[in-house]
Amino acid sequence: MCGIVGYIGKQDAYPILIKGLQRLEYRGYDSAGIALINNGNLNVYKAKGKVADLVRFAEQQDIKGTIGIAHTRWATHGEPNQVNAHPHYSQSEELAIIHNGIIENYAVLKEGLKEHGYTFNSETDTEVLIQLIEFVKKSNQVDLVTAVQLALNQVVGAYAIAVIEKNEPDTIVAARKGSPLVVGVGEDEYFLASDATPIIEFTNKVVYVGDEEIVTLERDKELRIKTISNVEKTPEIKKLEMTLNQLEKGGYPHFMIKEIFEQPKTLSDSMRGRVNVEENNITLSGFIDNKDKFLNAKRIIITACGTSWHAGLIGMYAIEEFARIPVEVEYSSEFRYRKPVINKDDIVIAISQSGETADTLAAVELARSQGAFIFGICNVVGASIPRNTDSGCYTHAGPEIGVASTKAFTAQVTVLTMLALMIGREKGTLPQDRYLNIVQELGRIPEKMKTLLTQNDAIAQFAKTFTYAQNFIYLGRGYNFPVALEGALKLKEISYIHAEGYPAAEMKHGPIALISHEMPVVVIAPSAGMYEKVVSNIQEIKARKGKIISIVTEGDVVVKSLSDYTISIPDTEECLVPLLAAIPLQLMAYHIAVVKGCDVDQPRNLAKSVTVE
Ligand code: G6P
Repeated sequence: MCGIVGYIGKQDAYPILIKGLQRLEYRGYDSAGIALINNGNLNVYKAKGKVADLVRFAEQQDIKGTIGIAHTRWATHGEPNQVNAHPHYSQSEELAIIHNGIIENYAVLKEGLKEHGYTFNSETDTEVLIQLIEFVKKSNQVDLVTAVQLALNQVVGAYAIAVIEKNEPDTIVAARKGSPLVVGVGEDEYFLASDATPIIEFTNKVVYVGDEEIVTLERDKELRIKTISNVEKTPEIKKLEMTLNQLEKGGYPHFMIKEIFEQPKTLSDSMRGRVNVEENNITLSGFIDNKDKFLNAKRIIITACGTSWHAGLIGMYAIEEFARIPVEVEYSSEFRYRKPVINKDDIVIAISQSGETADTLAAVELARSQGAFIFGICNVVGASIPRNTDSGCYTHAGPEIGVASTKAFTAQVTVLTMLALMIGREKGTLPQDRYLNIVQELGRIPEKMKTLLTQNDAIAQFAKTFTYAQNFIYLGRGYNFPVALEGALKLKEISYIHAEGYPAAEMKHGPIALISHEMPVVVIAPSAGMYEKVVSNIQEIKARKGKIISIVTEGDVVVKSLSDYTISIPDTEECLVPLLAAIPLQLMAYHIAVVKGCDVDQPRNLAKSVTVE
């Protein structure tokens, strides 16, 4: 939530910062703002709405300067308006700050500052922090970096901040705790951002700022890092693997549809070097390095949020089936607070596309404090969660920009499936012939996805029929119950149609009351896994005149004859059906949202990376 970006160097900062904000807009798009130092002035421009609104306003102003910071906001404290937008000035307007995170003790700090004569323009916690920095700076007569350090010692909460000072046009001071922050190291210039996407165009050398670290970016000087408890650190420069064209739409109208179509490739990337079809083998180094832990685990707890939680549910089905280890799947936000029983021989698997979700990060910390072994499944390399786990496995889906997760989901399911297969084989709980069949079939999934994607136009056609709907029900059983949840989530996220996912047989315990001729019901009914049972559920819907949209295996006759619309997916192993069945549901949600005129890549109120709880 919230994207922050900064620049200091020889180029004009404004275009770099605006482009950076556009890349980070997926993190929040309620308001945006920029601060630039030019000719002894610290200019702050802000606008409600998107980065484009900021550009319209700022381009009438003085946008010169080779140092600046900028922000795109997802509102937490205070409604999304121009006053609450970042950057925030300090009282004297000599300092400006941008912030991603939440200062939890802002109310107490604010009261203290009021007693010293400070007044506040906005409702934000961020303005309190910049006033505190100014107060500390003036009362202790210290430089900016020391003031930031002293102030942060009084702060409870999460932050990634960047601060600039009118009279110090050669310095940006930034710090983080809990929220992500990356520094790009160029020739005579530094970049600063919430993730590497605004940086990659300029340099592939980055430093990931650690928790409770303060970084000073100075013109023509080496990068300096120290902790908030004043310990000097040597910056560790890493090389980015990302490429610029991964961040462009590549001819597609939206990132979401591009990412849906990328899935045959992202799945291959997820399996590259791991699934060897010729040798009938899977190798996951995260598993091999910790084989004993997995083989001796009494229980696996999967913790995640949103779409990643749905992937976790599919992982539970696979791990329990193949490895015979009990699995519990927990919403990170509940797990972290409900005093769960965690044992030393438990394995906690944290799944997160961004690797930054605050609740999942906190769940990891809780599990660590109780001695569990923690395994991360993340997409963003170098993010906080993979850096806080004992071991793990990247999904390698590439940058996912559309707020509604698609390719990251299927990559997560792939990694979980590979893990379940490896544990099952090593434990001897998965018969060898079954293992071999699934490995072979896993290797065929990318091609099958390609075939499936050729139905895009047909799905776009019938999707138009459903823009009238206020509600949808999604049903599936077994491995496809989580797919039903995910299909419903995709639809509500981007088209604002209310949708519920249910285990098909549970329908009669409630949702059946909603079924009428107006209610579209999406049923995932592949031939592998409880087919006849699902057919009975479909009959129950049909009897109540519900509109049936079915996902069936190619060649299916029975379900097709009962359905109003049918999408066929290639035949595959039961445990791999989610990888295929998810795709038509993603496409359907996408096309309904497009016809409804919704902002597909940046749906209202959502953000891609939820770094607040
Ligand atoms: C947000 C995103 C979802 C995502 C969830 C968990 O709600 O909009 O798409 O599934 O966070 O994010 P993570 O990065 O931890 O997978």
